[in-house]
Amino acid sequence: MPLNYMSGFGNSFATEAVAGALPVGQNSPQQTPFRLFAEQLSGSAFTAPRHENKRSWLYRLRPTASHAPFNPYDGGKLLRSGPFDEVPPSPNRLRWDPLPIPAEPTDFVDGLVTYAGNGDVGTFAGIAIHLYAANRSMQGRVFYDADGELLIVPQDGELLIATELGRLELKPGEIAVVPRGLRFRVELTGPQARGYVCENYGAPFRLPELGPIGANGLANARDFLHPTAWFEDRDEPTEVIQKFQGALWTTTLDHSPLDVVAWHGTLAPCKYDLDRFNTINTVSYDHPDPSIFTVLTSPSEIPGVANCDFVIFPPRWMVAEHTFRPPWFHRNVMSEFMGLIHGAYDAKAGGFAPGGASLHNCMSGHGPDRESYEKAVASNLAPHKIENTMAFMFESRWVIRPTKFATETPLHQLDYDDCWTGFSKAQVPSK
Ligand SMILES: [Fe+2]
Repeated sequence: MPLNYMSGFGNSFATEAVAGALPVGQNSPQQTPFRLFAEQLSGSAFTAPRHENKRSWLYRLRPTASHAPFNPYDGGKLLRSGPFDEVPPSPNRLRWDPLPIPAEPTDFVDGLVTYAGNGDVGTFAGIAIHLYAANRSMQGRVFYDADGELLIVPQDGELLIATELGRLELKPGEIAVVPRGLRFRVELTGPQARGYVCENYGAPFRLPELGPIGANGLANARDFLHPTAWFEDRDEPTEVIQKFQGALWTTTLDHSPLDVVAWHGTLAPCKYDLDRFNTINTVSYDHPDPSIFTVLTSPSEIPGVANCDFVIFPPRWMVAEHTFRPPWFHRNVMSEFMGLIHGAYDAKAGGFAPGGASLHNCMSGHGPDRESYEKAVASNLAPHKIENTMAFMFESRWVIRPTKFATETPLHQLDYDDCWTGFSKAQVPSK
């Protein structure tokens, strides 16, 4: 049966899985309906400005506080957190082949592999970039991340994400945002799943300002879907794994903590179909900065300088006149990690495969490979449409430092620089 969703980004929602479970007019009455336990989940400081304040009230079968101590979890061997100082950061352009699906039974948590990141979980600044590759559902356990919010970008395989606040169905081409601290279980609906995760230590992702674009455009708020309340009443051992200050910890409950019968508030998971993106681009000349394709942004304390922007490169018409249409050659103070969900990226003729990744760090020169360049400067500039593609970028104000795994894995393409060789020198008249 299809799941129900509530639409709108940043709205305050109210939902109950059982009629009458949600208190009316009061957050924590002395006697709640059905004697549910009232619990506030705060995703922002109590005193954050109203437009940035995120909290929800949960009404559940048992209080979250009731659990035994957590112990170190003997897993997540390839999971890393900021500060990223395992290996010295390389100024080189890096690219990786797709992460293989594991041969051993592996679920979403154990299948997380950290490629790179920046900042520090201890200071709530920066991001970590993981890929996941899994071949089975999380069974008898849930996960939560006290270190950050999770932006999940499936590339292969559909997921069912069962959270404390309801369930999200997620397929490649959609993204999900799971708030910091929210417990969830990832189930696979097929034999395997792979995708990307941006673990955001900083300010929660929000829609970017639109400025002169006006009131509409880019990702529209109404297209973000939030789950309605759903719960499971399961008295059976359930492991809770949490990520806290870079390490994984485990404890076991005698019940499923996905037992929130009703909730209301502004902090909730959501999903978004990238095909809904209202893509805006030039209709005269020149190639705008990729910020025009920003879906969500995690701002820093400096206006316009993001802790992380989530940017996509979706299907779109190319109509610019007198213009080099692929992404131009450039060097950027911001650092750029890219992934590919499906299709081909218009600045690369080969080597950047779905499920693969690339990293172009602060001030490293990059742009179209030679083949894409030669084709672009010789092409007839008639309007044409780029179709059947979805690439994306996590762009950050801080250098994105690769992990030891990312540096040493055979997935790392040692010949990446070659795609920018063989350009013919420009010919200028002699003085
Ligand atoms: Fe770039």
